[in-house]
Amino acid sequence: MMPLTPLTIDEFEAIARERMERSAYDYYAGGSGEERTLAANREAFNRIPLRPRVLIDVSQIDTRTTVLGQPLALPVMLAPTAFNRLAHADGEMAAARAARAAGTIMIGSTLSTCALEDVAGACEGPLWFQLYVYKDRGFTQELVARAEAAGYRALVLTVDTPLLGRRYRDVRNNFVLPEGITMKNFEAAMKSMTSAARWGAHSSFSAYVHDLFDATLSWTALEWLRTQTRLPIVVKGIMTEEDAHLAVSAGADGVIVSNHGGRQLDGALASIDALPEVVDAVAGRADVLMDGGIRRGTDVLKALAFGARAVCIGRPYLWALAANGEQGVSDALRILRDELSLAMALSGRPTISSIDSSLVQRRPPVG
Ligand code: FNR
Ligand code: LAC
Repeated sequence: MMPLTPLTIDEFEAIARERMERSAYDYYAGGSGEERTLAANREAFNRIPLRPRVLIDVSQIDTRTTVLGQPLALPVMLAPTAFNRLAHADGEMAAARAARAAGTIMIGSTLSTCALEDVAGACEGPLWFQLYVYKDRGFTQELVARAEAAGYRALVLTVDTPLLGRRYRDVRNNFVLPEGITMKNFEAAMKSMTSAARWGAHSSFSAYVHDLFDATLSWTALEWLRTQTRLPIVVKGIMTEEDAHLAVSAGADGVIVSNHGGRQLDGALASIDALPEVVDAVAGRADVLMDGGIRRGTDVLKALAFGARAVCIGRPYLWALAANGEQGVSDALRILRDELSLAMALSGRPTISSIDSSLVQRRPPVG
């Protein structure tokens, strides 16, 4: 029997759940604590009603936009996610190729299981690089220089992970990287780092983060990063207007409203609920992106209506990668593009610039 092509992102997840090793699936799917924020990211979208307009010519729908001045065929990027080879042997290289083919951009993770140079070589299209700052600043500097040399077009500084959230699934499963899958960005790096950067030198992934990531990081890190690169800097993990102000004052070119997919502070509000105050605080001085819980075209539409320039997807592309490699990720991006186009047509918003806050009700009706 021919396998059926999934029609929705949720169908990709069902396939991935069957295909993947339990501990790898749980690492991808899970959140921290009681997974309240993980659930909130989805529930919050369901609570937002749309206010469609009618009798507008929607015979042509145009999903094109720009972020940091860079063109996107659709306002959906691939979020940085660690360890893509747990999903598929081609890992990050396959995901990056699918992003390029769809006319969008992947944000490659520091914790990639393909070297950042190999991802750039395989993709031959625009990429951004996500940076975790290590206690070893020299090593961090080298990562930045490598990303710049390999042609990455922006740096995404993730600021919500000074320590790893407590993820009970991973503790129970004793989650470790299987034989043959390694953090490839570290292999070519300074000799002194190589042993410490190996998983095995730490009792768990959480211990790895605790031992190596710089938990002293403060706003001065942004100034420091500015001196290290000419690339635009995007700060990922902003959830409040206070921090949005600080990020823009510190010179960020963009911010990503994100609670790390519910994997860090459990109890934090849903990303889509944090978006409006960040958009207000930034007031056009930087591009605002968001991620967390995007599973359908209407979710993208809602995020754009609240003022995001684009959204990022994490788990949706991982499920598609696990289901069918590069082709799977291409299919997932096509599903989201088609769903978004249809939602734009049915809401009377034929272009990205016609999507405005009147499309959403800020507060759902009490009832
Ligand atoms: C992540 N995320 C993440 N973020 C980051 O800045 N660097 C990273 O290495 C990772 N790694 C990672 C692994 C896995 C398995 C997941 C699910 C997530 C967070 C990611 O960029 C993004 O914020 C969330 O995935 C968005 O939520 P959704 O789309 O998964 O609901
Ligand atoms: C995670 C880290 C790697 O969420 O960002 O697992």
